Amino acid sequence: MQKCAEAIVKHVEAAFARVWLLNDAGDVLELHASAGMYTRINGTHSRIALGKLEIGHIAWKKTKYLNNDIVHHSRIHDKKWAKREGLVAFAGYPLLIGKRVIGVVGMFFKRPITPAILDTLGSVADAITQGIERIRAEEGLRQLSGQLLRSQDEERRSIAGDLHNVTGQNLVALLTSLDRLRRAIPSSRNWRKLIIHCEKIVKKCLAEVRTLSYLLHPPMLDKFGLEDAIREYLEGFGERSGIRVRLRVPPKLGRFNREAELVLFRVVQESLINVQRHSRSKWAEIRVERHKKKVVLEVRDKGPAITTQRSDRAHPAGVGIASLQERTRQIGGHLEIKFRKVGTTVRVIVPT
Ligand SMILES: Nc1ncnc2c1ncn2[C@@H]1O[C@H](COP(=O)(O)OP(=O)(O)OP(=O)(O)O)[C@@H](O)[C@H]1O
Ligand SMILES: [Mg+2]
Repeated sequence: MQKCAEAIVKHVEAAFARVWLLNDAGDVLELHASAGMYTRINGTHSRIALGKLEIGHIAWKKTKYLNNDIVHHSRIHDKKWAKREGLVAFAGYPLLIGKRVIGVVGMFFKRPITPAILDTLGSVADAITQGIERIRAEEGLRQLSGQLLRSQDEERRSIAGDLHNVTGQNLVALLTSLDRLRRAIPSSRNWRKLIIHCEKIVKKCLAEVRTLSYLLHPPMLDKFGLEDAIREYLEGFGERSGIRVRLRVPPKLGRFNREAELVLFRVVQESLINVQRHSRSKWAEIRVERHKKKVVLEVRDKGPAITTQRSDRAHPAGVGIASLQERTRQIGGHLEIKFRKVGTTVRVIVPT
């Protein structure tokens, strides 16, 4: 908006241009941008009640107001000021989405407004409206995806807890009962065989439930922090994938806030799954650096040189990386992925 106001001043030679937006309650116009003679947005007229002064009137009436002789005819209340500053013309446009007013753009000029300038101003007002709507829609979408990611985390945490504490404990109880049953009937070989078979299945289920619970949400993360959670994850990942992962962390990494630890853990998890699924590399490295106010984490592999579909890789279609980027953005961080000739690097920076 500030850039728009500056562009108006520059290109149509306005003395100053300002953009007010209607507040959430819909009763006050709040100044959001100001360029030209006045650049402060917290001074006089930073808040104008709907219907008051010329700006409030434009929003109330939802019609533009143009005047090429403000000193004599206008509703501009401070004519002395206008005269002193050499201002002769005023143009004010309501910013309208359909019939709903979202703000007003107002401009003063030191020379009369020509019909050509009038045309330009009308389209500038439309462009500002569309820009504001787009920003608001993007902001709404961002908030929604943030909420979705947070509720997904909570759900995963709770399912992981139930799987571990309830299903896991029931399986342990079943295993104990089978053990007692086996001891109670030592004579029949067939029954013993069947019970041993049952025990094997229950043990497998138990291992699967533990892995699933861990993948959903590692309990280590909340209890002991990122480093221990990554180390534990790597043990299972190495066995499952056959990929050797080197972890380089400073001697005293310490703890970060809960959100940052979860985002960093998810980056490790998703990036390593990507290494396994897409890179064919048998080696990966995770590097963590702690700076004063931020943590930098990198996951890289030595996947084969990319010879085909490079452009597709520059705009990947999966949701893994995109959701990591959104998670990172939600906590004020930044994530980038670089596909090099040999190897891919995911680099994330989050504030602590
Ligand atoms: N380590 C890697 N080596 C090579 N290519 C990779 C690597 N990581 C990601 N890619 C490429 O980037 C694409 C996007 O990754 P992303 O994780 O977003 O999606 P995906 O893994 O394909 O699907 P999913 O939504 O299940 O994660 C992949 O499809 C792959 O082409
Ligand atoms: Mg993926």
